[in-house]
Amino acid sequence: MKDFSNYSLLNHNTFGMDVKAKRYVEYDTEEELKVLIPTLSGELLHIGGGSNLLFKADFEGTVLHSAIHGIEKQTLPLPSLQGGSGIPTNEQGNSLSSVGETGKGSVLVRVGAGVVWDDFVAWAVERGLGGVENLSLIPGEVGASAVQNIGAYGVEAKDVIALVEAVDLKAGEKRIFTNAECQYAYRQSIFKNELKGKYAITYVTYRLQKNPQLKLDYGNLRAVLEQNLPHGENRPALGLVRQAIIDIRNAKLPDPKVQGNAGSFFMNPVVSREKFLSLQKDYPQMPFYEVEGGVKIPAGWMIDQCGWKGKSLGRAGVHDKQALVLVNLGGATSDEIIRLCDTICKDVHDKFDIDIHPEVNLI
Ligand code: EPU
Repeated sequence: MKDFSNYSLLNHNTFGMDVKAKRYVEYDTEEELKVLIPTLSGELLHIGGGSNLLFKADFEGTVLHSAIHGIEKQTLPLPSLQGGSGIPTNEQGNSLSSVGETGKGSVLVRVGAGVVWDDFVAWAVERGLGGVENLSLIPGEVGASAVQNIGAYGVEAKDVIALVEAVDLKAGEKRIFTNAECQYAYRQSIFKNELKGKYAITYVTYRLQKNPQLKLDYGNLRAVLEQNLPHGENRPALGLVRQAIIDIRNAKLPDPKVQGNAGSFFMNPVVSREKFLSLQKDYPQMPFYEVEGGVKIPAGWMIDQCGWKGKSLGRAGVHDKQALVLVNLGGATSDEIIRLCDTICKDVHDKFDIDIHPEVNLI
């Protein structure tokens, strides 16, 4: 366990903000976390890789970070559900028995919340297990994948999450959440809403496929893959899909080690069908995705249409290859990033009459 006072968070946020936490604690096991909980006071912030945060100032409370590691294929009965009565329900009385079904070509893998997300993806791809290859190279850690419902190229974490193990940060009790209980939606979960700040995720169990069903229909993924296919082969292997995703991301998204950023700064808004149809008359080239409850319009496209791509305000910039990403051009303060964010939101509102909102958590 690490426990520091007045600790610099510079290496714990990819935007590169040099802020301090009054206390910073990193625990290695679930047991250590439970022992730690009674010592915690004041405001708490649980971070993962710090790739979706913008610190506005020093954090006057305790920052928690999980260093729980390990990736394990599960055999039945699930060890994480053992103990107590052995009845396969969680405390909410929801049946967990279907979670144990691994007969239909799938395998359950339990991963520590502190594992780097892309290390888990690489582990799965190397073993020929499908389901997360489209989520290659997303920054951050496994715990955050379950909070944020990370997504890319037509796949979201919710598609593969079977169970989430978490510890109540007040009572110190463990709770196991089924996928349905996590209330997943686009970049949303119960951990960002009703239970925000209340639980620390310790393990996530994913259901992966032994005979992967590839999802290649997003954007130019299929086209990139077809170019890379070895001669005579017509079906890409998982490793090729992973490589294509890595190539696409590297071409479009800035490397936080070179230029501070937190990936997509804004969420893509969902508008009503009527609103979409009226916009489409003015902008026939506008990309869109039909989703539950309306039509999703890429915020990056709208920001680009407003002329912001590659532009800057002070030391805060808009990435020149993907307008959804705001970058720290070097020494930017959080105020500069927020001023750019507000100016962009206003311009998008004025041009399209659509409100866009940050995906990044402002702390
Ligand atoms: N577009 C532009 N100009 C831009 C950016 C985008 O015209 O500057 C257009 C693109 O040509 C495309 C459409 O907008 O037609 C969508 O762009 P893209 O496929 O790059 O995806 P996105 O909607 O901008 C989302 C995720 C990304 C994820 C990609 C791929 C959100 C907030 N972002 O971006 O996630 O990698 O799809 O699935 O949903 C992240 O969350 O940090 C992230 C990078």
